[in-house]
Amino acid sequence: MRRAVVNSATLVYMPPEHEPVLAPELIDQLAPEPGQTAVDCTFGAGGHARQVGEAIGSSGTLVCIDRDPAAEARFERLAAEVPCQTRFIGEDYAAGLRMLSGEGIRPDMVYMDLGMSSMQVDARERGFSYSYDAPLDMRMDTRQEFSAADLLNEWPESRIAQALRRYGEERYASGIAREIVRRRPLQSTAELVAAVKAGMPASARFGGGHPAKRTFQAIRIAVNGELDSLEAALPAAWAMLPTGGRFAAISFHSLEDRPVKQFLAARARGCVCPPELPVCACGREPEAELLTRRAIAPGAQEMAVNPRSKSAHLRAAVKIAGATEARA
Ligand SMILES: C[S@@+](CC[C@H](N)C(=O)[O-])C[C@H]1O[C@@H](n2cnc3c(N)ncnc32)[C@H](O)[C@@H]1O
Repeated sequence: MRRAVVNSATLVYMPPEHEPVLAPELIDQLAPEPGQTAVDCTFGAGGHARQVGEAIGSSGTLVCIDRDPAAEARFERLAAEVPCQTRFIGEDYAAGLRMLSGEGIRPDMVYMDLGMSSMQVDARERGFSYSYDAPLDMRMDTRQEFSAADLLNEWPESRIAQALRRYGEERYASGIAREIVRRRPLQSTAELVAAVKAGMPASARFGGGHPAKRTFQAIRIAVNGELDSLEAALPAAWAMLPTGGRFAAISFHSLEDRPVKQFLAARARGCVCPPELPVCACGREPEAELLTRRAIAPGAQEMAVNPRSKSAHLRAAVKIAGATEARA
């Protein structure tokens, strides 16, 4: 969504706070229609929500979830501008979806745009970025007590190393964890960057992006329990959808994309009997049709305008059977 503001002399392009990624592609997959109900699990700055809200129109309902309390004020602004009914849930999306489900809500579409918003990265004091010196925070939900400082200063070395390996796919996890523990107490992101650099061989500090990129990703995922939320939200979202309902997710790294891909593939699978069985004994029917056999990635133009979109992957599916029970 481009915005123009007038200053005294000329029209000036003001980039939005957060450029929504793969927005036309997402709308294409969700195919929102007037009167439908949509759940946006990751409201952010509402770039996607705005487009969905406009498409479902005055008879539609848009529920927006975000666990960052700062998102609520942005939601209020959007709610005044879109034609549809709106509602905000300031919770983790897994909890928000369970709440909606408990109310008997059966949305026509549920979608999520995972990870952090540009506003979160750019708010220096929140400590998400290795580019600014800031307190070790990294909480998406600022009401949460547990922060990056708690993790880095209290977790045992082996647990930090495991988190760096699991959530950052960091090769030098053991060395970095050792340095973190040796330098305790760590108080700032600059101190964390210094520990990361000291914990890896000098040759590994050059080329391949910022040396602390994987560590920051890992700590952020661990502080916010991001993958646990995703694992809990996928079956909750799917169970709410009626037949014909659509689910879509935009992920930014393989740790997010893999569970989405596996979850949707499992729902799209029919019979799982061993091939040696002459007839099907499992009776399992597919309950999803994949709308994206391969994930949709941004085109060169989007990547040039919005470099943050580079690693984005969009996957979507439509529910084709009436089953409401999530399968393991
Ligand atoms: C990439 S941004 C979404 C941007 C949004 N689609 C837009 O167009 O502006 C991700 C947002 O999801 C929120 N978020 C991430 N994980 C969440 C979770 N488990 N529960 C609720 N909100 C979450 C973050 O706080 C952030 O605001």
